[in-house]
Amino acid sequence: MKIAILTGAGVSAESGLGTFRDKDGLWTRYDLNEVATPEGFARNPALVHDFYNARRANCADATPNAAHMALAELATGPHEVTLITQNVDDLHTRAGSPDVIHMHGRLMRALCAACDARWDAPLVMSPNDHCPSCGATATRPDIVWFGEVPYDMDAISAAVATCDLFVAIGTSAEVYPAAGLVELAGRQTLEINLAPSARANAFDDHRFGPASEVVPAWVAELR
Ligand code: OAD
Repeated sequence: MKIAILTGAGVSAESGLGTFRDKDGLWTRYDLNEVATPEGFARNPALVHDFYNARRANCADATPNAAHMALAELATGPHEVTLITQNVDDLHTRAGSPDVIHMHGRLMRALCAACDARWDAPLVMSPNDHCPSCGATATRPDIVWFGEVPYDMDAISAAVATCDLFVAIGTSAEVYPAAGLVELAGRQTLEINLAPSARANAFDDHRFGPASEVVPAWVAELR
């Protein structure tokens, strides 16, 4: 069976990484226009680097939880699994999932806005950093900000449109185009979340509860 999986911040919540829109979520404490838009970065790059430096440090301290581990195990067969994540942490990869598609970029990578070079981000980035490729001081976190186009949309659309089962895990379905992927999925669709998301009605099946419990149970049934 071809399975396309979309994960969101809920899958990493039990690893200690905050979600965005839950009570005490990141967007209740920070103005996303200031820290997650190209315009905010142009206004105050130091503030934006501070925000992502703090998140990078949290990510480095976190470890994958049982949901990440179960998804990595699922990829070992017999099903053909495509794992798409909105998360910018590297917990799926550290759990052992191969070929993770990071549609919103990666905290652990840096990007040069002048020449598009990418490299492993240092733990602490600053507006004075030089691009190792062209030397410009135009380095930024390799994060897809609001108003920018998510990465790998062709591969994502193809995987979702041709899968037998589309599963969204731990995402509020508030951010497009990720929230619209369920419409592309022609066959069976399943939502796993603590509670119904904004697009819950678009899914055929639902399983509600913490990802660290529900995802391993679901994977065990598929093996
Ligand atoms: P949100 O914070 O919007 O939603 C998190 C979802 O996870 C909610 O639906 C929660 O109910 C659910 N959740 C929380 N804890 C959970 C748990 N232990 N088990 C299962 N589900 C749980 O996060 P996303 O939907 O990922 O983009 O947000 C999408 C995008 O908005 C992010 O990628 C980010 C943000 O702005 C960028 O920064 C570009």
